[in-house]
Amino acid sequence: MERFQLVSKRRLAERVNEYVVYAPEVARHCLAGQFVILRVDEEGERVPFTVCDYSREEGTVCILVQEVGYTTALLARLEVGDRLADFVGPLGNPTDLSSYRRILLVGGGIGSAVIYPQAKQLFGEGRPADVIIGARTRDLLIYQDDFARYAKGFYPVTDDGSNGRKGFVTDVARELLQKESYDAAFAVGPLPMMRAVCELTKQFSLPTVVSMNPVMVDGTGMCGCCRLTVDGEVRYACIDGPEFDGHKVDFEEAMQRLRTYKAQEEEHMCRLRGGVR
Ligand SMILES: Cc1cc2nc3c(=O)[nH]c(=O)nc-3n(C[C@H](O)[C@H](O)[C@H](O)COP(=O)(O)OP(=O)(O)OC[C@H]3O[C@@H](n4cnc5c(N)ncnc54)[C@H](O)[C@@H]3O)c2cc1C
Ligand code: FES
Repeated sequence: MERFQLVSKRRLAERVNEYVVYAPEVARHCLAGQFVILRVDEEGERVPFTVCDYSREEGTVCILVQEVGYTTALLARLEVGDRLADFVGPLGNPTDLSSYRRILLVGGGIGSAVIYPQAKQLFGEGRPADVIIGARTRDLLIYQDDFARYAKGFYPVTDDGSNGRKGFVTDVARELLQKESYDAAFAVGPLPMMRAVCELTKQFSLPTVVSMNPVMVDGTGMCGCCRLTVDGEVRYACIDGPEFDGHKVDFEEAMQRLRTYKAQEEEHMCRLRGGVR
């Protein structure tokens, strides 16, 4: 097996694939909450993905990728046995939920990939969390059986009610917060979702950690691309995060920054659809 070869590829939902990559050095050191930066080919963009699972014995790392643009579409064209140009990591800081006992995990869309290793780890440590995962429709809910196994209480939610509760993750979170007692929440998903969860948990004075996903380039704190404002100070998601106190993150600014390169990203996709690389 060659380094960075795809060991397996599995379609989990529309435009969402699970990839297992042979990367023994990353597998040896990575922990839940950290991420990798990969390039599909030598000329490729560097794109970050959270470590969703790993096997130190087999030297493999699992990532879940939602196809949203140029590089994720290129990735989706690869098959088992194909090799990535590089796969660097682990980057960022591992999640630290060690000081909390009763934890609420909330995942929206592909954000469920980030809360999955936390759910598994907390289960292994004998303090399983309540888990809410949300998606637009049933086919987009991922890892349901695994979450059900590892969670204390598992609450799938869909916008259209096709699976689990109809509504948003915040609807279930509100109900749980009214009747259960938690020490902390960990929320990962699209920025508007994380902002909504944080607004809710603020009302219950519940400490809340979020995992931020700004555009990244080098992943080492040098380029400044991933900067955020947290508690009025500039922080870099790649080295200071990616997890931060959600009650202190400036979500408005983060959303505005994520929209900055929309036009260029669209142009990139047009080139891919036209078959030009
Ligand atoms: C620390 C970190 C961990 C991440 N983990 C995962 C993961 O586990 N699985 C996963 O599918 N994605 C994850 N992402 C997001 C992923 O890196 C982007 O979706 C990817 O870079 C898009 O590349 P692209 O060339 O396909 O799309 P582009 O052409 O660059 O962008 C297409 C669309 O995606 C949006 N987009 C671009 N970058 C991001 C971003 N960083 N976050 C959210 N939206 C973005 C753009 O606004 C645009 O609408 C993570 C991002 C970070 C910073
Ligand atoms: S990605 Fe360059 S500073 Fe974080």
